Amino acid sequence: MKVLDLFSGCGGFSYGFQEAGYDVVLGIDNEKIALDTFKHNHKNSEVFNLDLSIEENLQKIALFLDNQGGVDVIIAGPPCQGFSLTGSRKEDDKRNELFYSVFKIAKLLEKKPKAIIIENVTGLATLYKGKAKKEIEQSFDENNYIYNSEVLYAPNYGVPQIRKRLFFVGLYKEDIAFKFPKAILDKDNYIGCEDAISDLPTLEDNLGIVENSYITKPTSQYQKNMRQKSKYVYNHISVNHTEIVKNVIAQVPEGGNHKDLPKGVGEHRKFNEAWTRYHSQKPSKTIDTGHGNHFHYKFNRVPTVRENARLQSFPDNFLFLGTKTQQYRQVGNAVPPLLGYHIAIQLKKILNK
Ligand SMILES: C[S@@+](CC[C@H](N)C(=O)[O-])C[C@H]1O[C@@H](n2cnc3c(N)ncnc32)[C@H](O)[C@@H]1O
Repeated sequence: MKVLDLFSGCGGFSYGFQEAGYDVVLGIDNEKIALDTFKHNHKNSEVFNLDLSIEENLQKIALFLDNQGGVDVIIAGPPCQGFSLTGSRKEDDKRNELFYSVFKIAKLLEKKPKAIIIENVTGLATLYKGKAKKEIEQSFDENNYIYNSEVLYAPNYGVPQIRKRLFFVGLYKEDIAFKFPKAILDKDNYIGCEDAISDLPTLEDNLGIVENSYITKPTSQYQKNMRQKSKYVYNHISVNHTEIVKNVIAQVPEGGNHKDLPKGVGEHRKFNEAWTRYHSQKPSKTIDTGHGNHFHYKFNRVPTVRENARLQSFPDNFLFLGTKTQQYRQVGNAVPPLLGYHIAIQLKKILNK
């Protein structure tokens, strides 16, 4: 089955589909470096660097796909800033177009895709008093897609990270709506940080620039799975914190945050997620785009790009290109590939029926 990935980023969502046996034919984004990463990890896919708010671009995409016999599935993770549905919505605000672009492309295609999947933050459900969600649902209706939506919790699907995301799945001219995949794990056996990353070089004494080999054997099934297709550890370079910062981190207990610091320590950062140290036996906090507020469960440093990637369920053979800042952003923006995989498998079962 052929897949089009809109707002593809580095391709976390797509990678899950690829692993489930789909043919990801095209990824589209307007950030070059994310597309470079996408291409590197989806060797058989095309990438287009296009602004998806521009009508002519949508026509170009539809024409390209029509010439190849269309696609079966569209997956899309539009940025949530695109939902400017406040009272004074301006017609010429390009960002308004972003999620409509998904439906516009479906409409332009000669052969309608069998499924459209849209992923977003859970806040979208209540954004603008529920208007944003309603607009998406209306668009599914107008285009003859029977839809269902659900918030999926990543640890339930084997991802060692607390991450909740809202998914809409629409099926073209079907009678029965999509049923979301059942959880494969419950809270008693969620994968914790230690099981996810303890085999990676510690980087306590160096920044990891030279040393990029595994030094220990995998110690969990999760680590084995992640290492299966890779000989080396990439994207594993530490941040060189100052002694003052290291000293503050050292005072945060495992699983703790700024509230656990003695009075007068780390005062300049005291918001919700500040100075948060992961717990070795629990999934990590939601991986962000590189804000530097989260710390390794054991070492006095922020997690590397590779550690974040592991916690997002990217296997070690998935490489991130660009500067360290760009790599952190790509990882944090992504749908965990393992979550994408479980949705992809479930969709396959339904479409094959
Ligand atoms: C949340 S990320 C998608 C992550 C992706 N689904 C994944 O799993 O890796 C949203 C993406 O939309 C892209 N984007 C934002 N505005 C865009 C536009 N006007 N046209 C095309 N892409 C856009 C951003 O560059 C970003 O990579």
